[in-house]
Amino acid sequence: MCGIVGYIGNRDCTEILLGGLEKLEYRGYDSAGLALVDVDNNIILKKALGKLVNLKEEFKGFKNECHLGIGHTRWATHGRPSVKNAHPHLDCQERFILVHNGIIENYEELKEELINNGHTFQSDTDTEVIVHLVEENFDGDLLEAVKKTINTIDGAYALGIMDIKDPEILIAARHGSPLVVGGNEDEKFIASDTPAILKYTRKIFYMDDREIAVLKRNSIYFYDYEGKKIEKMHRILNWDPLMAEKAGYDHFMLKEIYEQPRAVRETLFSKIKKEKFFFEDLKIDKERLKDLRKINIVACGTSYHASLIGKFIFEKVLRIPVDVDYASEFRYRDPILDKDSVVIVVSQSGETMDTLEALRIAKDKGAYTIAIVNVFGSTMSREADGVIYTIAGPEIGVASTKAFTSQLMTLYSLSVYLGEKLGICFESDNVVRTLKTLSPMIETVIDDVDIYKQIATNYHKATDFLYLGRGINYPVALEGALKLKEISYIHAEGYPAGEMKHGPIALVENEVPSVFVVNKSPLYKKVISNIQEISARDGIIISIATNGDNLIQKYSNKVIYIPEIEEFYSPLLTVIPTQLIAYFIAKKRGADIDKPRNLAKSVTVE
Ligand code: G6P
Repeated sequence: MCGIVGYIGNRDCTEILLGGLEKLEYRGYDSAGLALVDVDNNIILKKALGKLVNLKEEFKGFKNECHLGIGHTRWATHGRPSVKNAHPHLDCQERFILVHNGIIENYEELKEELINNGHTFQSDTDTEVIVHLVEENFDGDLLEAVKKTINTIDGAYALGIMDIKDPEILIAARHGSPLVVGGNEDEKFIASDTPAILKYTRKIFYMDDREIAVLKRNSIYFYDYEGKKIEKMHRILNWDPLMAEKAGYDHFMLKEIYEQPRAVRETLFSKIKKEKFFFEDLKIDKERLKDLRKINIVACGTSYHASLIGKFIFEKVLRIPVDVDYASEFRYRDPILDKDSVVIVVSQSGETMDTLEALRIAKDKGAYTIAIVNVFGSTMSREADGVIYTIAGPEIGVASTKAFTSQLMTLYSLSVYLGEKLGICFESDNVVRTLKTLSPMIETVIDDVDIYKQIATNYHKATDFLYLGRGINYPVALEGALKLKEISYIHAEGYPAGEMKHGPIALVENEVPSVFVVNKSPLYKKVISNIQEISARDGIIISIATNGDNLIQKYSNKVIYIPEIEEFYSPLLTVIPTQLIAYFIAKKRGADIDKPRNLAKSVTVE
């Protein structure tokens, strides 16, 4: 949460930094701020409450040429959203300027000490202690002051720090919050995430915990917390910067929904060689798997729902029990793991704090850890024993869509790959063939846009929605409800359809829509009974059914048809209507779809 960006170099950087913040806005948008040093050594510090557009407004007509600056977009933790709590923050002499993503856990003690030493605070944030500590520790050498400071603070942080009196240096430090450094010959960047700087450089260094970077326009040096120089290798990113643009769509979310046929296809193709599954970065051998008795999958949010579907997939293919946990629960429940365990973490960002900590706990207990992540070079991808990338490309909309379907594609592929290694599954050619048919099918589900618009017109004023499904489509119901809640702020609950009569049915009345996943499956008739239970109470029924199912019309107010597909693979199709229903309802309600209130895309705090 929160995004930071920084620049030092030969170009005029105001637009570069504002553009970078725009790409990081998914990380928080309670306020934004930018500090610049212009060519005459004037300091320009502007902050604005709310979204970045407000800060951009402050910069209208701004002409000063600046070659150094740091910016921030905030998701409030300590101190309510306000201009005074917006970053960047200054020390008492207004010499050092700092941006921070993370939480300083011992800030109260430090603040008290600093106040006793005569420091005056301007904000209610935890962050401000850091810049006062830099001031306190400064003795002519900024690197030394930063080093001393970070050895005093506890918690998680990615920092960018400038010294107004020395505009030839920019310092960054990381512990627990993501940070990348990149650059060309005569300019350097820092950012919380690569899309912020991808337009200008593809040469990226991923900072690790307890590292400091000293950036000058012509050089970057990395140090550990003891001040020892570190050699770091850069990577060249091949993400196309255009992937992080809206490309004519009204919202990133819609663009990302439309990108799903490509995302799942590329994800699948990246995992097959000669019609067999092949996982390049998964160094897991037969020996490691021979005593495998259980798989744990751990994730948060939408990735958790993909993991629940993963349980159905793995249990069917491998006949090995699978536990799925919310990462925030897993990390505190002393999970029973040992060296024979396999723990899979699933995360779009690869940075979600709870999932990352769960991964670390699993590693400490000796489990073999696999990270399924979308962001190349993310912390999870670097810390797990094996990594599998989803090839969704940058996902900017806060409500996850293409990352979800790409995760599903990965879970299908991985299950068969492991099944072959275990000698219990020999059908990979068939599975590959079926999975290949899914991308064009997703396309047809997306294309029938009118039905989603009609549903939005009819039901956007509802105050409650139910989402119901069974078996492998029960997690789709959970995901559908989450999507609607996130972006339209309508109360929605996802439930296994058979469980509905034990509670949620009490919500049903004539203005409450229930979205049923009622595709072809052995439980089809049972779901029809569940639908009738709702109809009998005057509830509105929206069904997601299989092409050719005419019977369902009789029981439904609206039917969305998906192509015929084996139930086992159907979540890749049934989830698409739930995304589009949420999107068009939120649009009809005038909600801020890409930046829903109170949410952030990458949750790097507990
Ligand atoms: C946040 C986002 C969700 C996402 C969840 C997990 O809550 O708003 O869209 O599903 O984090 O994120 P991850 O990056 O770990 O998949």
